Amino acid sequence: MGHDGAGEFRSKISGIGSYLPEKILTNFDLEKMVDTNNDWIIERTGIKHRHIAKDGEGVSDLGYHAAQKALKMANLTAQDIDMIIVCTVSGDQVMPSTACVLQSKLGCRNIFSFDLSAACSGFVYGLSVADQFIRTGMYKHVLVVGGEVLHPFVNYEDRETCILFGDAAGAWIVSRAEKEYPNVIMSSHLHADGNLGDLFVLPAGGSKIPFSAEVLANKTQYVKMKGREIFKNAVRTMTDCCHEALNANGVKPHEVDWLVPHQANLRILESVASHFEFPTEKVVVSLHETGNTSAASIPVAFDMAFQEGKIKRGQLILLAAFGAGLTSGSLLLRF
Ligand code: COA
Repeated sequence: MGHDGAGEFRSKISGIGSYLPEKILTNFDLEKMVDTNNDWIIERTGIKHRHIAKDGEGVSDLGYHAAQKALKMANLTAQDIDMIIVCTVSGDQVMPSTACVLQSKLGCRNIFSFDLSAACSGFVYGLSVADQFIRTGMYKHVLVVGGEVLHPFVNYEDRETCILFGDAAGAWIVSRAEKEYPNVIMSSHLHADGNLGDLFVLPAGGSKIPFSAEVLANKTQYVKMKGREIFKNAVRTMTDCCHEALNANGVKPHEVDWLVPHQANLRILESVASHFEFPTEKVVVSLHETGNTSAASIPVAFDMAFQEGKIKRGQLILLAAFGAGLTSGSLLLRF
């Protein structure tokens, strides 16, 4: 497919969907597994429970369900999709990519499909990439999935991390709109600061530390985190990204209908809202039901708010994310 009018197009969101696995892990379940308690978890994070995929269920499976819902809403079939981006750090396997698995499962044409690794900022990164391919006229419909099955990478003996994470997937269809169409992606701003990479890591399983008996003995197949440091940097980077998006568009905070931030910790979201002078009642929060689902968190939170009738078509919405890397980013759109 060639360029047919670079710069003439903008990206609209023609369909959204999300999927949460059936199994629920509550704070009370965790009390039986590690030295923690429901009150501490709720007070320090806001999380009540999280969903966990069943054995053998991978990101492509969760992504498949989310993508089917998004296609239905967009009134499109898998054959209409021109490109697939799966944003994940917990793909089905190292290779082939989860995007290729999903392309086959959905029955798409032999289209450009790849995984994007930006941890919890993945979905904002993915939307931005999709937007570029739409704006150049290259593609008409891009499927962006944020999906994670994180539980195999979580050490359920480490109380600082195991309380936080859950499994989920969300999917958006980003479609071509004529330049004058009002409900479009307005801007995206993405960042990475590799100097802070050691704050949140999953050391083993890559080329530097392949799997071995030593890996299992040292438990380096699990995520490790410097929670307090991440907290500070999350507030700083998400606040900066929110300001950046609004300044670039000449928009004031009160004009934004909803802020949909990465769902990491309720206190992080409240701090961002206060630094950004944004009313907390206009911050979309779903983490009490999902925990932190990394790249899935923004599309899942968005879809839940849409299903509840909070987010409506035509509203001005700001997405903000941060994650391991450290990556961060914001995206302003009229939905
Ligand atoms: N249950 C009970 N107590 C716990 C606990 C748990 N699950 N986890 C930690 N604690 C204890 C600590 O050991 C510490 O005890 P001490 O005072 O005796 O040393 C105390 O609670 C306070 O620990 P602290 O680390 O200061 O807590 P916190 O308020 O910073 O909350 C996090 C910890 C992890 C919830 C919080 O720092 C956080 O959410 N950080 C960001 C993590 C994140 O978003 N990661 C993903 C990036 S995308």
